[in-house]
Amino acid sequence: DQDLADAGERVFRKCKACHQVGEGAKNRTGPQLNGVVGREIGGLDGFKYSNSMSDMEGAWDAEALHGFLADPRGYVKGTRMAFAGLRDEGDIDAVVEYLRTFE
Ligand code: HEM
Repeated sequence: DQDLADAGERVFRKCKACHQVGEGAKNRTGPQLNGVVGREIGGLDGFKYSNSMSDMEGAWDAEALHGFLADPRGYVKGTRMAFAGLRDEGDIDAVVEYLRTFE
């Protein structure tokens, strides 16, 4: 849904201090997020994850992203992602839809 993805682009401003997405996106404080929906958790070559995140099994599907973005440090105990999380479920839906637009 394009409107939702557009709303998600605005939510993503909160992530931009640490993450890049789109053409030429590079790892910074956080890993680049191209293709993150469906990507292996902690699986990007060349980014140094916390052990907590690199030890996690599975892939970032919508459900895992919801859990993590609502409460990063509760979902991945010991994560280095210093972000309190998104309180609004609608914001989470939107940012996931936005991230889905990048392969
Ligand atoms: C990891 C999303 C905000 C720093 C991740 C991952 C996702 C994500 C999906 C896991 C990626 C993977 O497994 O490859 C987001 C979104 C944000 C956000 C959507 C905004 C709503 C931030 C902010 C910071 C940050 C503001 C810095 C203050 C990091 C770091 C990691 C990470 C350092 C790696 C964590 C670890 O190794 O434990 N983020 N993030 N993120 N993010 Fe964020």
